Amino acid sequence: MSLLVASIDLGTTFSGWAYSYKHDYKTSRNSIRTKNWHASSHISQKAPTVVLIKPDGKTLHSFGYDAESKYADLAETGDHKDWYYFRRFKMLLFDRKGVQVNTLIEETGGKNLEAIEVFCLTIKCIKDDLIATVKQQLSGEEFKESDVSWVVTLPAIWNDAAKQFMRCAAEKAGIDKDKLTIALEPEAASLHCRHLPIEKNVGDSDASLCKYPIGTKYIVVDAGGGTVDITVHE
Ligand SMILES: Nc1ncnc2c1ncn2[C@@H]1O[C@H](COP(=O)(O)OP(=O)(O)OP(=O)(O)O)[C@@H](O)[C@H]1O
Ligand SMILES: [Mg+2]
Repeated sequence: MSLLVASIDLGTTFSGWAYSYKHDYKTSRNSIRTKNWHASSHISQKAPTVVLIKPDGKTLHSFGYDAESKYADLAETGDHKDWYYFRRFKMLLFDRKGVQVNTLIEETGGKNLEAIEVFCLTIKCIKDDLIATVKQQLSGEEFKESDVSWVVTLPAIWNDAAKQFMRCAAEKAGIDKDKLTIALEPEAASLHCRHLPIEKNVGDSDASLCKYPIGTKYIVVDAGGGTVDITVHE
């Protein structure tokens, strides 16, 4: 039985992770922990989906804001040409209808790497960051990676090949296939919204959609960088 459920949202423009302990979830569905990513001037719950890979084409140097600033430093001195810098690469899986394990993707400077490597390194980096945070939080307590169930969210419009590709990348990143759930982004968002407090409500201050009478309908609009998902739930 898992101690916690961890999720990875690889977005077109921004990505993030979140987790929730099973014992917290039982008492409060909203007790979800997310990462505070540090940008130069602010803190945000998601980081840009930007990956910087070293000139060997295999080793990840950094992800997110760190990747952006390191690449800017390299470019300033003209030392960036051998590095691999990927941004906005998620939707490539949608464009290429028959994505395969050996499909190549092009980075900012025009060099190619296998898409599976880039997705794998990205998922691994986010996963390792989450694990490190949990370990830090549970310092002293026994914790094994097998205590984690993973959810990776995907756009609803992706075809089976793209979904299979992401599953493959997640497994390659070290997520055990028995511990991996693939969920659709708009469905996860819709279920989460059921338990959010409703701000503008008359009377009951801790009202949420799930406390409304059966038959109530709501619409969730997720205007993302790559897809706009509109979900109706009854
Ligand atoms: N609070 C905000 N105010 C205004 N714009 C925002 C805000 N938060 C995010 N954005 C912008 O909205 C766009 C979508 O961001 P979001 O993080 O939802 O996309 P994504 O999850 O990366 O994309 P997708 O889900 O389509 O793959 C981005 O261009 C981002 O800059
Ligand atoms: Mg999104």
